[in-house]
Amino acid sequence: MELHTMHEQLTGRLERQELVSATISQPRLKSNDIKRIKLKPVEIKNSYYIQFEYQHEHVLKHKNLTVVEAAAELEKLFGEFRQGLFQFTDEKIQVQLSKKFKVSWKSEQTETKAAELSHNRKKQYLLEDGIPYPFLVRLGVQNADGKVKKQKYDKFRQINRFIEFIDDSLVHLPKDRTVRILDFGSGKSYLTFALYHYLRIEKGLDLRVTGLDLKKEVIEECRRIAEDLQYEQLEFLVGDINDYNEESAVDMVVTLHACDVATDMALSRAVKWNASVILSVPCCQHELNSQLAAPELDIMLQHGLIKERFSALATDSIRAELLSLVGYETQLMEFIDMEHTPKNILIRAYQTGKKPAPGQFERYQEFTKLLSAQPFLENELREFL
Ligand SMILES: C[S@@+](CC[C@H](N)C(=O)[O-])C[C@H]1O[C@@H](n2cnc3c(N)ncnc32)[C@H](O)[C@@H]1O
Repeated sequence: MELHTMHEQLTGRLERQELVSATISQPRLKSNDIKRIKLKPVEIKNSYYIQFEYQHEHVLKHKNLTVVEAAAELEKLFGEFRQGLFQFTDEKIQVQLSKKFKVSWKSEQTETKAAELSHNRKKQYLLEDGIPYPFLVRLGVQNADGKVKKQKYDKFRQINRFIEFIDDSLVHLPKDRTVRILDFGSGKSYLTFALYHYLRIEKGLDLRVTGLDLKKEVIEECRRIAEDLQYEQLEFLVGDINDYNEESAVDMVVTLHACDVATDMALSRAVKWNASVILSVPCCQHELNSQLAAPELDIMLQHGLIKERFSALATDSIRAELLSLVGYETQLMEFIDMEHTPKNILIRAYQTGKKPAPGQFERYQEFTKLLSAQPFLENELREFL
């Protein structure tokens, strides 16, 4: 098929508002900063737009475009990318462009799917309010008929957001063997149960999940709940992250609000086990706050409040950079809106084995030198850097 025919075909479907979702990938140049682009329709103030989500190496950027703008943007993108996967309302289309821009077009009829214009509508959660999920009822988030308790709504939102991240990472998990997952500093383990429910009960994955925490009574209660729910592949252990050396290979490591350097301990364990997926929401970072000394930044750092926030942001940036330097595609993402908790940065890292860019380590060193920072995680990962 010729390129202009492909554009006509795609534009027609966009104009008829048939798009459900799409992914544009395979940049022609490896150096392209954008790795893939996801498309979905959104409704903003009663108008139809197509949202383009540009996945850069470390950040996600979004643009909402009208159909005409979207068609032009697609044309531009197919100058730089070679593959497009489109789900339209009743048709799946895969286009593959050759080096010389010849188009291979594969189309397959699918069941009718509704385009979800979720942008301005009530948020569609993966777990729904009104449907009783045994673990949420048992943890006191829902009452017996599935209604989320008013005072637990933030927790419900947080659990749902976390499951969205779990869902996104599914493609990075092995399909041919038991998936090994560790939740470090699992505490009351809302997320550990949620993760188990979603991956085991809803997705049917063969997995083994361990929640680890210092607090004996909390862990004992989690064990009772897991037993009551007959979650046989979920175990809870009392222990210190730093002493946990039981594993040789782990597929996914998660931490949510593990205090201070407990997050770094978990990250370094994950790297040493070569975990494919890391999802980590840090908490109360004090380490850098006590080290920070940068006369160039005194105008900021003279204020205790700013210094504290700056330290937290710098710490997460350093963590992301270190993970990137040891072969992870890493992004810092908003975990949950600021209005619900200020601890809202999630570090998402997928092991890709990619080599650091030329000069990346030197830039990292300049940055830590500027701040007089001696990051715990750098020390932990020294053998990999
Ligand atoms: C703020 S709570 C978060 C609990 C849970 N992840 C959640 O989000 O609901 C932090 C947990 O990390 C645990 N923790 C802190 N340092 C730890 C360590 N070195 N080893 C194991 N657990 C640790 C604490 O006991 C606590 O339960």
